[in-house]
Amino acid sequence: MKEVQILDKRFREYIPEQVIQGRINELASHINRDFTGKEVVFVGILNGAFMFASDLFKKIDLKAQITFIKLASYTGTSSSGAIKELIGWNEDLRNKSVIIIEDIVDTGVTLEHTVNNLIIRNVKEIRIAALFLKPAAFTKNIHIDYIGFEIPNDFVVGYGLDYKGYGRNLPSVYSVISK
Ligand code: IMP
Repeated sequence: MKEVQILDKRFREYIPEQVIQGRINELASHINRDFTGKEVVFVGILNGAFMFASDLFKKIDLKAQITFIKLASYTGTSSSGAIKELIGWNEDLRNKSVIIIEDIVDTGVTLEHTVNNLIIRNVKEIRIAALFLKPAAFTKNIHIDYIGFEIPNDFVVGYGLDYKGYGRNLPSVYSVISK
């Protein structure tokens, strides 16, 4: 098993690159099937979702646009609960079918913030694609339409996800080794 050291923590490979890519292909096929003939705007949540958004969007075979918002709620390995909007909304999304692209849903605070922002923008419909969901941490009553992997409540890095800003470049996902 591959291990990596990031700052003071050690991580072990948890989901290899090929498994992630295979699952993204499946999610893209579901979206392509569900939205056949429709126009869609994808909204990626930065920073973490940049890699998932890029790989997913390449597999989308629809009339589609993509835009990004930048939110921050995490400090180190735990969610602060408060959302900071670092890059906001500048697209007119009225009457659009929107698919939110989130890297990982933990407590769901970030997702709820994003959904509420879309509701007040009078979009036509909202769907959610999340590569990872931690069901044990999720506190919100929000339906997630496309889930890549349900994972335990452990801290993970790689494939866009970071520990204190590092580890996003790893093509596989690694889980922290608790000592
Ligand atoms: P939530 O608002 O608690 O659902 O947290 C969502 C955000 O926290 C994600 O978009 C990530 O940026 C970050 N996050 C949650 N869990 C992890 C993790 O295990 N590793 C790295 N970042 C995480």
